[in-house]
Formats: sequence, structure tokens, C-alpha cells
Amino acid sequence: MTTIGFIGSGNLGSTLARLAVDAGHDVVLSNSRGPQTLQGLVARLGPRARAATPVGAAAAGDLVVVTIPVRAHRQVPAEPLHGKTVIDTLNYDPARQGRVPGIDAGDTPAHLLLAAHLTRSHVVKAFSSIFFKHLATLGRPAGAPDRSALPVAGDDATAKKTVATLIDSLGYDAYDVGPLAESRRFAPGTPAQLAHLDPAGMFAAPGRPVSAERLAKLLEAQETP
Ligand SMILES: NC(=O)c1ccc[n+]([C@@H]2O[C@H](COP(=O)([O-])OP(=O)(O)OC[C@H]3O[C@@H](n4cnc5c(N)ncnc54)[C@H](OP(=O)(O)O)[C@@H]3O)[C@@H](O)[C@H]2O)c1
Repeated sequence: MTTIGFIGSGNLGSTLARLAVDAGHDVVLSNSRGPQTLQGLVARLGPRARAATPVGAAAAGDLVVVTIPVRAHRQVPAEPLHGKTVIDTLNYDPARQGRVPGIDAGDTPAHLLLAAHLTRSHVVKAFSSIFFKHLATLGRPAGAPDRSALPVAGDDATAKKTVATLIDSLGYDAYDVGPLAESRRFAPGTPAQLAHLDPAGMFAAPGRPVSAERLAKLLEAQETP
């Protein structure tokens, strides 16, 4: 079992923490307001959970999930993450979140912003393509006919394997999309990023399972610009 640090413990972070605790992992949660504001969540998650500062969570994690608003990505503590595997869930979706000055103007594509900040970490994009409520409900045991696949992208093969093992333990198959830059194939607005949504009900409806075969077709549909 693994200790997973969380930089960000909101909708997606707390959902992942729940799945991780249920799978037998330890979690160290953090947010921007301080560990004292996470005591309720820690109590709900039970003895495998504790709260810390972002620096503390980064230092404690065998791997660390960064799951904060993209506008805050430069506040992620880089030094304690040196050499570590970091899961990047960040999406920049101006249509829904509004535009962030300094991101629009920059040279770095939005899906690579965290990696550009954490140059000495092994960044793997994952969990960015599924709505947190659907992530909470679509997990299935290995081999189940309706098990869903989630895309992962990263430049370090060992880090990607670590993340794939975590994803498997949480009830999903990991689908390797390739290097980190290929995470553009499941960036906001792409067919793969919307795959679990029922078009009739979108975020209000239950999520739909997405097999690895279907995910592969959707990823292919996102052509190179
Ligand atoms: N929600 C989804 O279904 C979903 C799905 C895929 C990807 N994503 C992406 O995942 C990220 C998180 O989404 P979310 O919906 O979970 O957001 P959220 O509910 O607003 O939670 C954001 C979390 O980040 C923390 N945070 C903000 N600034 C921080 C900082 N400087 N240092 C440490 N923690 C900080 C917040 O803490 P405070 O409350 O203390 O500020 C909060 O715990 C976003 O980039 C989003 O695009 C979300």
C-alpha cells in the first residue's frame, strides 16, 4: 500500500482520497487554508487519513496528487516534490472557469503548465477526464465487463506504471496515451474527456462506463493540430 499526498482536497481530491482509503492506501490531505480546515474530511475518511500543509503532504507522499485550480499551479511547492511521481489532474477550461491572465498569454500549453513548474518531478496526467461524481461510482473490480478505462500520459515509464497500479487499485484500467504532451488528446472539450458523460443529462446524469476499446477510438478521434 502507498501513502498518497494531496495538494488540493476539494471535489476531485476528496473523491480520490475516499477511493484510496477504501483501497487500503494512506492519504495526507492539504489545501490552501490549512490542516485545521480539513479535520471534518479527515474524520469522515478514518484512520488512514491525516491533514498537513501542502509542503507536508508533498513530503509525506510516495506519490502526490495535485488537484487544485489551474490558476494556483505556481503555488505548488516544487522542492519537496523533486524526484517524485506527481499526478496532474488540472484542466484549464476557460469556457467554464473563465480566462486566467498569464495562462492565456504564456507559451506553455495549458495541459503542460504543472510539468513546466515541476521540472524535477515525474508528472503524469491522470483523473483529469472524469467528473468527480462519476469517478466515485464507476469503479469496478478487475475483469468486470463494465470496468472503465482512464487515460494516463507521462514522459517517465516508471512513474506511469506507478500511477497505473494506483488506478487499478481504485477500480479502473489505465490506458497509456503516450508522452505527457499527448494529454492534449483528453484535454477539456475533447471526445475522450467527455466520454463518461451521458449527453442527455451531462453532469447531472449517472456516468457511463467507457471501455479501453472505446477510449482508444475517442483518443484517436482527436487529431494532431
Ligand atoms: N471536479 C471534477 O470533477 C474534476 C474533474 C477532472 C479534473 N478536475 C480538475 O481538478 C482540479 C481540482 O478540481 P476540483 O473540482 O476538485 O476543485 P475544488 O473543489 O475547487 O477544490 C480545489 C482544492 O484546491 C485547494 N487549493 C486551492 N489553491 C491551493 C493552493 N495554492 N495550495 C493548496 N491547495 C489549494 C482548495 O483548497 P481551499 O478550499 O482551502 O482553497 C481545494 O481543496 C482542477 O484543476 C479541475 O480542473 C476536476
